[in-house]
Amino acid sequence: MAIIINKPLDMHLHLRDGDMLKTVAPLSSKSFAGAIIMPNLVPPVTTREELVSYRDRIKSSIGDDTFTPYMTLFFKPTYTKEFLESIKDELTSIKLYPAGITTNSEGGVSGFNVEELRETLDAMSELEIPLSIHGETNGFVMDREAEFVSIYEMLATNFPKLTIIMEHITTKESVEALDRFNNLYATITLHHLMITLDDVAGGMLQPHLFCKPIAKRPEDREALRRVALDGHPKVMFGSDSAPHPQDAKESCGCAAGVFTSPIALQVLTQLFMENSTLEKLQDFVSNNAQKIYKNISVPKKSITLEKIPFTVPNRYGIVVPMYAGETLAYTITKIER
Ligand code: DOR
Ligand code: ZN
Repeated sequence: MAIIINKPLDMHLHLRDGDMLKTVAPLSSKSFAGAIIMPNLVPPVTTREELVSYRDRIKSSIGDDTFTPYMTLFFKPTYTKEFLESIKDELTSIKLYPAGITTNSEGGVSGFNVEELRETLDAMSELEIPLSIHGETNGFVMDREAEFVSIYEMLATNFPKLTIIMEHITTKESVEALDRFNNLYATITLHHLMITLDDVAGGMLQPHLFCKPIAKRPEDREALRRVALDGHPKVMFGSDSAPHPQDAKESCGCAAGVFTSPIALQVLTQLFMENSTLEKLQDFVSNNAQKIYKNISVPKKSITLEKIPFTVPNRYGIVVPMYAGETLAYTITKIER
């Protein structure tokens, strides 16, 4: 049986820059119709010039693939309404990182004082620019996301017209928060649907599964699966595919990030198939995102998958993908635009 996915979207993607961009961008542009591109370059994307030239570098890395990079800025509480008005048409979202919480986030927000954020967040509400958030405190690593829920609630209450995306949620507490606030939405990664902390550190340490937020407990994964497999209208697929060179992962001081772009649709198809919820896959990987992000237009593209074994390469360039060397059940057999 052939499975067809229309306009698949990855609503949270790291493409990097330079040679790495050239290696990984085509692996997303091949199978996805578009993706929200994270701004945590060094230095982060904070100006119109940086955003436009990064988009040009992405476009020149993907040949003639049908793929829209939806650009983001790195959140700064100094962005004024005038600045946001001038850049609104170029961007899809603004990404907020707590300072120092993950790769290249040193210039992020510390303290979460609502008055310090108000001018920028009011302007974003008015201009209908969504706010994407990496929601972790600097507390104990397993509790960071659950502790951040109170900050999501503070923001959702103070800025009721702002669309707030809880990025890469990993806990049942975040899943529960979704239904308490009209303006809270979430992305869920492939890896957090597939693994728990046991897979990362329960046996020999698996650096290629180490990421932020760290994978959590089985009951957390269950909560994520429940909403994803159900096609819950407030959740969407965002891979958080985050490539690092093999030697930065297999080293003392392992970089955080799981690289999943080239295997994501194959594994999602298997997961939804095995749970007899295939009819919800389209919602999770495209339709929900198009309703939540009212400001995107998605090019025509359809991906066909069939139950034909696909052995994942050990490496793409210098990056090791999730499930390297393993055989997956589904293969992409056709891409139509
Ligand atoms: O594991 C992660 N890697 N989490 C993030 O939030 C950032 C990402 C990266 O950029 O490498
Ligand atoms: Zn990310």
